[in-house]
Amino acid sequence: MALKDSNFIILKDTDTQWKKFGKSIPYFGVLSNQKYKKKTLSEDDFIEFFKSGEEEMRDIYRYIKKHIKPDFSPKSSLDFGCGVGRLVIPISKISTRVCGVDVSEEMINEARRNCDRYSVKNATLFLSDDTVFCLHEKFDFINTSKVLQHIPEERGQKIFARMLELLDVGGVGVFDFCYYGAPRHSLINQIKMKLNIYLKNEPLMLMHNYNLNEIFHQIQESGITDMHVLMSDKGHKHLGIRIFLAK
Ligand SMILES: C[S@@+](CC[C@H](N)C(=O)[O-])C[C@H]1O[C@@H](n2cnc3c(N)ncnc32)[C@H](O)[C@@H]1O
Repeated sequence: MALKDSNFIILKDTDTQWKKFGKSIPYFGVLSNQKYKKKTLSEDDFIEFFKSGEEEMRDIYRYIKKHIKPDFSPKSSLDFGCGVGRLVIPISKISTRVCGVDVSEEMINEARRNCDRYSVKNATLFLSDDTVFCLHEKFDFINTSKVLQHIPEERGQKIFARMLELLDVGGVGVFDFCYYGAPRHSLINQIKMKLNIYLKNEPLMLMHNYNLNEIFHQIQESGITDMHVLMSDKGHKHLGIRIFLAK
């Protein structure tokens, strides 16, 4: 019988790995560049790290304004899997309020320190579970970047469904997925990876492909009819898409 990737116990517990990243090498957990492999970054690396977030959000806003909503100016935004606040900070500049959620308390604490450092006053940061039940309000902008790809597909689909629910009518959602290139996580592969990580004393970061038929189906089922897709190269032969949608 063929087992689905997500049935393997070793890979299921991605949260523990993210908590370890948050505790030891949070910036490397967000952008896997060797120079970010320290608990505290040098001033130059810190500036460069946050500049990447500014640029990423600038491109996203440009796309939204040009192709989806020319008067895009959100009141209430959500950044799901916000990490150390790399995207929360630029979102705070265009949105009246922004909420960042993450599964790692250490990431959230680091994001709070970074928001203070950048004098961000309109961000609220929460520890999240998959249902995002801590959030009762709806959002007119929901963004998630480099997060779902690290969560096994079955679980990620449920989170995605919840984000579609949390998006208000008239709102814009931007979601990225990896759809090709993540290795099939056979049990033997997982054990090898675990051993390697144990020897290197580093947390485990895995990529998961998503079946785009399922994702498109979820989008259409939620009543959304307007969607734009951009291709992206996620490095290491992983290919992805960024979906822009309007509800
Ligand atoms: C690669 S980092 C990206 C951070 C941020 N989105 C950015 O681009 O700067 C992935 C983040 O997703 C968070 N994460 C992973 N699984 C999650 C889950 N199930 N719920 C919420 N956050 C999660 C991790 O703790 C980590 O901070």
